[in-house]
Amino acid sequence: MKRLGLLLSGRGSNFEAIADQVVAGRIPAEIRVVISNRPEARGLEVAQARGLNAVSIPSKGMDREAYDRLLIEELEANQVDLVCLAGFMRLLSATFVRAFPHRILNIHPSLLPAFPGLDAQKQALVHGVKITGCTVHLVDEFLDAGPIVLQAAVPVLDEDTVESLSARILQQEHIIYSEAIRIVLDGNFRIEGRRVVAVAPTG
Ligand code: GRF
Repeated sequence: MKRLGLLLSGRGSNFEAIADQVVAGRIPAEIRVVISNRPEARGLEVAQARGLNAVSIPSKGMDREAYDRLLIEELEANQVDLVCLAGFMRLLSATFVRAFPHRILNIHPSLLPAFPGLDAQKQALVHGVKITGCTVHLVDEFLDAGPIVLQAAVPVLDEDTVESLSARILQQEHIIYSEAIRIVLDGNFRIEGRRVVAVAPTG
């Protein structure tokens, strides 16, 4: 059984969607640990309530390298195969990325490379794009930048607010994150430059 480690900082709705898929047997893995860098994160409470191993490792005031070493320790202690960032609001160091090569996923609420960083849904509205969406990508040491595994498009409606647009994007996030986890866990892909290319299953 493959082992997942979830990292979050807040609400944790992507974590919940993934946990639901795990419980339903639609992701062939177990959630070994849920880590939050913010002790007050709702996602951490939800993880506890679900009986999962919920760990708070506060990042406030900590040096990035030192913090990331704590994260690596906790994830390695739980023998995690795949790290899933689910609203984890910190940039990870090269040390962290090297500890889990091609084994870290992130979800971002835009069609990358458009609108990286904070408030991606607001950036899309302000720019006036007609289509935005969400992206699941492998994580490198740059912000919202690694090879793309899956994307989903979401139309921007004339009457949209940041809230209404974010809610429609979130529905798609909850679908494609689990799908991307399945792809990566199956290992039926290779990376060519920036491209994640499907390969036929062996055996
Ligand atoms: C999502 O919009 C995700 O794309 C972004 O942060 C938000 C996290 O939401 N990275 P939640 O904590 O999963 O509900």
